[in-house]
Amino acid sequence: MSPINIVILAAGKGTRMYSDKPKVLHALAGKPLVQHVLDCATSLQPRQICVVYGHGGEAVPQAMQQYGAKFVIQEPQLGTGHAVQQAMPHLADGSRTLVLYGDVPLIQHSTLHQMQQEGEGLVLLTVNLENPTGYGRIVRDLQGDVQCIVEEKDATAEQREIREVNTGILLAPTEMLRAWLSKLGNNNAQGEYYLTDIVEMAVQQGLTVHTVQPAHRWEVEGINNKIQLATLERVWQQNIATQMMAQGVTLADPARIDVRGNITCGRDVEIDVGCIFEGKVNLGNFVRVGAYSVIRNATIAQGTQIAAFSHIDDSEVGANCHIGPYARLRPGTKLHDDAHVGNFVEIKNSEIGIGSKANHLSYIGDSTVGSRVNIGAGTITCNYDGANKHRTIIEDDAFIGSDTQLVAPVKVGKGATIGAGSTITLDAPAGELTISRGRQTTIAGWQRPQKGKK
Ligand code: UD1
Ligand code: MG
Repeated sequence: MSPINIVILAAGKGTRMYSDKPKVLHALAGKPLVQHVLDCATSLQPRQICVVYGHGGEAVPQAMQQYGAKFVIQEPQLGTGHAVQQAMPHLADGSRTLVLYGDVPLIQHSTLHQMQQEGEGLVLLTVNLENPTGYGRIVRDLQGDVQCIVEEKDATAEQREIREVNTGILLAPTEMLRAWLSKLGNNNAQGEYYLTDIVEMAVQQGLTVHTVQPAHRWEVEGINNKIQLATLERVWQQNIATQMMAQGVTLADPARIDVRGNITCGRDVEIDVGCIFEGKVNLGNFVRVGAYSVIRNATIAQGTQIAAFSHIDDSEVGANCHIGPYARLRPGTKLHDDAHVGNFVEIKNSEIGIGSKANHLSYIGDSTVGSRVNIGAGTITCNYDGANKHRTIIEDDAFIGSDTQLVAPVKVGKGATIGAGSTITLDAPAGELTISRGRQTTIAGWQRPQKGKK
């Protein structure tokens, strides 16, 4: 197979999105539409990718810098043929050029690969539709050979009956494409330079035009409004849910999971309804995720139970931990095996040792907590002095009484006990009870105040 170049058309304004953002930067599964296309394009290992953009200034090239693609502006936008023309100076001959669309995000590698295998001539991706309204029609002769593509607005009543339509995606030899494009005119119903007119030129030159059909209809669906965006989002999510279940994951409801990134799961993983996974998430064997949990860029080792409404972000969780309900692990959290983090406990940039517990209403920030530590309800690490952050160190087997403030930098020694309600500002020695509250007193005969007479 000859090497390929890829042109991605992304100059359309997206008027019907009613948004200040260029259409192709709207997100599907947490990723801009055009990035889906770029990822698929990259998977074909092309020589060059060229993105034709228009509306939204430099927003598109800026957002997609990491791809090393060539970005060319099309201004004004005079049609799909004119758009591809803008890319041609950047594409070398001795190759084929594949045209994709920044607003057709779910095109699959396998379909494009099949087009590449179809032969070295002109290859069109077409579909048959019950209702072909609005699309360019594939006109064939009596032998079934493709003759041309006619746009809806230029079609005769008879041609409008044709159900086979142009998806817009095509593959052409680069030299020929260059020559055809230079001959395009705009004498048609829309006064545009139609890319589709190259088909007739190819036929006149005696070339056979090949057609390929995608495996799924959704691969070639474009997005023009938020309704279509939501529809394709559901297609994507359904596909991921199906893949996960096929690999053995138990989903309480495949219609109520959202994956905006990559998730890998071990055996016997169970996920309840309403969970969102973002970035790179790895769930070990026997992990259970409770309803409405949000997990982003995290590794959860085997056997860990995450109860409902927990948030885990940029964290690493060991095996057999218990998390939540209503727990929040913020970036930089590392829980070692068998740790327990209960309701309304927030942990940030901290390490929690093996078997340690913080089960209720606590904030643990910038801390190193050893093994078998018990952190009582309402414990707060005061890690911020208004200007700088400081660390709290709690050594193995320490017991922190409820409602304790640990004013960092501070250290609680191995096996130390902190009495409930203490404000600890100095290091607490290992093995001792440290307490900072005043002694309890009872005032005999004290009376509650009475409400005064008006
Ligand atoms: C085009 C095809 C039609 C096909 C349909 C599939 C042509 C002439 N017609 O029609 O046969 O059935 O797509 O959806 O090609 N774009 C630019 N610059 C331009 C014009 C368009 O970048 O000057 C981009 C748009 O952003 C869009 C794509 O090209 O992503 C298609 O443009 P659009 O105007 O929607 O094409 P259709 O008229 O629908
Ligand atoms: Mg148009």
